[in-house]
Amino acid sequence: MKAVKIENLIDGLRGISDEEFTCDNVYRFLAENPVDVDTISPFFFWSDKFYTRNLIFKDERFELMVLCWDKGQVSRIHNHADQMCWMTVPVGKLRGQNFRAVEIKEENQFCKLVETDQFDLSDCLAAKVELEEPIHQILNLPEFAERAVSLHIYSKPFDKCLSYCRETNRFSEVPLYYTSVNGVLCDNIKL
Ligand code: SIN
Repeated sequence: MKAVKIENLIDGLRGISDEEFTCDNVYRFLAENPVDVDTISPFFFWSDKFYTRNLIFKDERFELMVLCWDKGQVSRIHNHADQMCWMTVPVGKLRGQNFRAVEIKEENQFCKLVETDQFDLSDCLAAKVELEEPIHQILNLPEFAERAVSLHIYSKPFDKCLSYCRETNRFSEVPLYYTSVNGVLCDNIKL
């Protein structure tokens, strides 16, 4: 499959009508349009302390970013409150681990999770977050032994999510930050 420049990928996504901007259609579009890594590399930022979130495009309907994962870095266990999410992994390899909430007491912010399925992504394979089971974690496992970059589309754009702690069985809302926007490091970020 021919690799597609990031600007063409974004144009293609913007060209999908609101009615057609569904989980399955965007997933298919991503699967059929592997991104040309050279065109996203200007947006890569690396930190040895955390994985970085680098915004490339945002409008009212979706945001598109690349996440840069150093060896061993992982996301929090989190959900994407009713938002549609898609991802591909153009560089390296990542593990996705899904969870199901088996006991929830909202008033105490209590939530007991069990692990469900897991999947590995590499070579621009596309994945979507299942709306009925949205709690997950993304991991660049130490045994993968290389850096990884993932490309994410979130619709609508969002700046917070629920984060889950398995040790305490608690969850809380946490803010989400960008590390860089349009290839420029954000003011408050120390890599
Ligand atoms: C993030 O957006 O920071 C985490 C990656 C994901 O779960 O999609």
